Amino acid sequence: KSLVVAIDGPSGSGKSSVSREVARRLRAAYLDTGAMYRAVTLHCMRTGIDLTDSPAVEAATRSIDLVISISPDRESVLIAGTDVTSAIREPEVSSAVSAVATTMGARAELIRRQRALIAGAAHRIVAEGRDITTVVAPDAEVRVLLTASEEARLRRRGDQLGGTQTAAQLKRQVTERDAKDSTAADFTQAADGVVTLDSSELDFEQTVAALLTIVRS
Ligand code: CDP
Repeated sequence: KSLVVAIDGPSGSGKSSVSREVARRLRAAYLDTGAMYRAVTLHCMRTGIDLTDSPAVEAATRSIDLVISISPDRESVLIAGTDVTSAIREPEVSSAVSAVATTMGARAELIRRQRALIAGAAHRIVAEGRDITTVVAPDAEVRVLLTASEEARLRRRGDQLGGTQTAAQLKRQVTERDAKDSTAADFTQAADGVVTLDSSELDFEQTVAALLTIVRS
C-alpha cells in the first residue's frame, strides 16, 4: 500500500467533505467510518433492536450485511442491498448513533471491518472518523486531527442542515454528541505523531490545501 491518510475530528469540523475532496485530489479511495456507525444505528432502529441492549447491538453489528462505497465520487451505503445513503443522515440517526459508538463490542467489529477495507484498497486511501489516527490505523503514513472552534463547528453544521434548526437546537445537538462521543473515543487531543490542523479560520478550499500540504510534506 502506498499511502494511508488518517483524519480524525469532531462533529462539524468539516472533516467529511474535506476528506472526500482530499481523496479525489490524491486519486485515493475514501472511507467515511461515521457512515458505518450510522448504518448500524439505522439497522437497529429498523429491526427493533434496543440500542441500550449492548449484546444485541454487538450481535447486530457482527451480522449486518453492510456495503459501503470507498469511491470518493460515489457516496453509497447499502444494508442487505437496500440503499440507505440518505437515510443514515436523518436527525433520528444522528441523535441515536452515540449508543452504537459507546458499545465496545460494536466498535471492535466496525474497527475490524474498517481495517479490512483500508487493507483492501488498491493504492491510496483517506480514512476519516474519530479513532482512525489512534486505533484503526495508527501506522498510517499521514495522521491528522482536524479541529475547529465550537463557534465554527456550529456554523458549519447549521449550513449543512440548511437552516432548518434554531441556534439553540443546533448547539444542543452538537455539544451533546461531542460529550457522548468523548466517552467512546478521545479525539479532542492529538495523539503522539498526529498533526493538528485548526480549520476555524479556513474555508473549504484552504482546509483542503492545508491537508494536501501536510500529505506532501
Ligand atoms: O455527523 P458527523 O460528521 O459529526 O459524524 P459522523 O462522522 O457521521 O459520525 C457519526 C457518529 O459515529 C459520531 O458522532 C460518533 O459517535 C461515531 N463515530 C465513532 O465513534 N468513531 C468513528 N471512527 C466514526 C464515527
